[in-house]
Amino acid sequence: MRTMLFGMGDAGDDGAIWTAVDAYLADHLIAKDEVLEAALRDSEAAELPPIQVTALQGKMLQMFARMAGARRILEVGTLGGYSTIWLARALPEGGRLVTLEAAAKHAAVARKNLERAGLLGQVELREGPALDTLPKLVAEGVGPFDFIFLDADKENNAAYLQWAVRLAHVGTVIVTDNVVREGSVLDASSKDKAVQGTRRFFEAVAAEPHVTATAIQTVSGKKYDGFALLIVD
Ligand code: SAH
Ligand code: DHB
Ligand code: MG
Repeated sequence: MRTMLFGMGDAGDDGAIWTAVDAYLADHLIAKDEVLEAALRDSEAAELPPIQVTALQGKMLQMFARMAGARRILEVGTLGGYSTIWLARALPEGGRLVTLEAAAKHAAVARKNLERAGLLGQVELREGPALDTLPKLVAEGVGPFDFIFLDADKENNAAYLQWAVRLAHVGTVIVTDNVVREGSVLDASSKDKAVQGTRRFFEAVAAEPHVTATAIQTVSGKKYDGFALLIVD
């Protein structure tokens, strides 16, 4: 442990201590769950990118949704449905979750994982680029949502914020994942579209009069990153 402690916070740290602490915390705070574990196993078997939230982050999202009293949840970026399962389990009887996913392969894996979780009655998975499916939700009068999780392509996060606000009501909680990306958010001249998208997202938040917002940097079993937390006013 000595070397790990000296390594804490070093720029060269490969995150071993963050992963070890996450394992310690999860060991105490996260109950063993066959359905969530099977979702991770099948996502890996299907070779989906292993970029889902950690268990501790999934539980945080679930707790945020409960704190918000969410009956209607919107997720942008389903992947294999891991965060979807955490969030859907926050719903009360009669609650609904809509999750949007562009990649047909990811959606197929997610549908199986959600079926195994017994959540297809509450969860609607809509396939297609979110910039197509979000306007449809507005046109169909779906919503407003009480809790919205933005976790798709970071390039479009400023646009997703605008749609989220349209699909919200006063008091809606919006969480945006991956807004720090190892500090790359600072690089104004970055050629990475995700970095530029994240920077446009923060400019959009700053220019949006109807939100109260903060952002928190995180370390975890994933890389150094962070999330933004907003309430619609
Ligand atoms: N929320 C998931 C992780 C999502 S990863 C979890 O934590 O478990 C990001 C997902 O967004 C990927 O599955 C990717 O295919 C999807 N995505 C990328 N671009 C998209 C777009 N334009 N519209 C909708 N989904 C998109
Ligand atoms: C990526 C996407 C995510 O949603 C995430 O949590 C981590 C990484 C990515 O596209 O690399
Ligand atoms: Mg993410």
